Amino acid sequence: MDKKLEEVKAILKKYGQEHLLNHYDKLDEKHQKMLINQIEKINFELVNSLYQNTSKEPKKQQDEITPIDYLDKYKLNDKYKYYENIGKKAIKEGKLAAVTMAGGQGTRLGHNGPKGTFDIGLDSHKSLFELLADSLKEEGKKYGVIIPWFIMTSRENNKATVEFFEKHKFFGYQKDKSIFFFIQGELPMIDTEGKILIGEDGLIKEAADGHGGIYESLVKNGMTEKMRQMGVEWVFIGGVDNCLVKMVDPVLMGIAIDKGVTVACKSVVKANAHEKVGVFCKRNGKPNVIEYSEITEEMAEATDENGELLYGESHILCNLFSVDAIERMGANPLPYHVAYKKATYMDKDGNIVVPDSPNAYKFEAFLFDAFGSVDDMAVLRVKREEEFAPVKNADSAGVDCPRTARKLYKAFYHLD
Ligand code: UD1
Repeated sequence: MDKKLEEVKAILKKYGQEHLLNHYDKLDEKHQKMLINQIEKINFELVNSLYQNTSKEPKKQQDEITPIDYLDKYKLNDKYKYYENIGKKAIKEGKLAAVTMAGGQGTRLGHNGPKGTFDIGLDSHKSLFELLADSLKEEGKKYGVIIPWFIMTSRENNKATVEFFEKHKFFGYQKDKSIFFFIQGELPMIDTEGKILIGEDGLIKEAADGHGGIYESLVKNGMTEKMRQMGVEWVFIGGVDNCLVKMVDPVLMGIAIDKGVTVACKSVVKANAHEKVGVFCKRNGKPNVIEYSEITEEMAEATDENGELLYGESHILCNLFSVDAIERMGANPLPYHVAYKKATYMDKDGNIVVPDSPNAYKFEAFLFDAFGSVDDMAVLRVKREEEFAPVKNADSAGVDCPRTARKLYKAFYHLD
């Protein structure tokens, strides 16, 4: 251990992060080991470059942004059946798997626990996970297959998530046979001086590195390998917080197969220019999504000659990928977006500091930044009332909250 400790000290000195061992002597042996392991895994060069980027002026928009072409699911006419048949055949052959990104906590919702365990207040009191499981099982039955389900958790919520599933007997799925759990990546949080934060437990303060790490996590955790063994060729990746998410869509799949694209995404028409959704576009001729936090007002409000929003195809985190595309994307690192957040930490004297304003940088990669690596991608416009009932905020926000999601869910399933 002493030798290891000396090695770690040398690394920390090189990168000016010696403070990480300030409280080492006060930790028990188990936590000392954990801390050393954490430090050994940190890519300090990456942390340095991420910190340097935080002080740079945001790059002026030099990219050429243009609207993207899309197909409207309900204006496909004869082609609807044609695509649907192609997709149905592939699903019956067991070529589809579903991935649910459930690394987030329900912080904005005011829920204490993994977001998927949240009860949106239906009479059944089913959690988001159970609503998703119901829909996936129901769809599988239509095609005589069990759609394998992969759940991405974070280090923070993995234990609670798996325990929740255990308690509910995996909603009829079989662990490691038809349902699989894998943990997403993390990055340390840093303060405004570029120093890595220490958390309340004396360990490195790490935070989930965004869902852009999903491709790499799927590969590294052996999930794509498993998919291949099961004969899966297509993977639907969706969020946990849309209780109407339609993970099995033969039309979407048929379009991807017929058009020979490796990524096919669903969109809904943006409710208004400032709705908090990312929008599909082309960036320098390649498919892309501009996130709501990064779109300019001018672009958000721009309309075409019919008065429709030019960038009105909302990204609803309903994206289909070929397994090949996931593996390719997993091999290429994505850029990180920076967020300035409040983070409780341990100061140099060992005091726990709970800040009341943002004090730390968190870095996240977005899965849609990988879209630029494909030449073409299909976008299918679907109906909001059929496929998009997000649960993001507490009811007091009035939008994308349990109340609005419940209403949409009940209307779709005729529960009233
Ligand atoms: C997201 C999309 C936005 C889209 C909107 C639709 C991003 C960055 N933006 O916004 O383009 O229009 O949904 O509802 O995704 N997650 C993880 N690990 C992470 C981060 C997120 O698993 O590290 C999961 C969450 O559990 C959730 C989903 O990804 O299922 C969305 O994450 P969130 O950060 O809440 O994105 P939004 O701001 O809602």
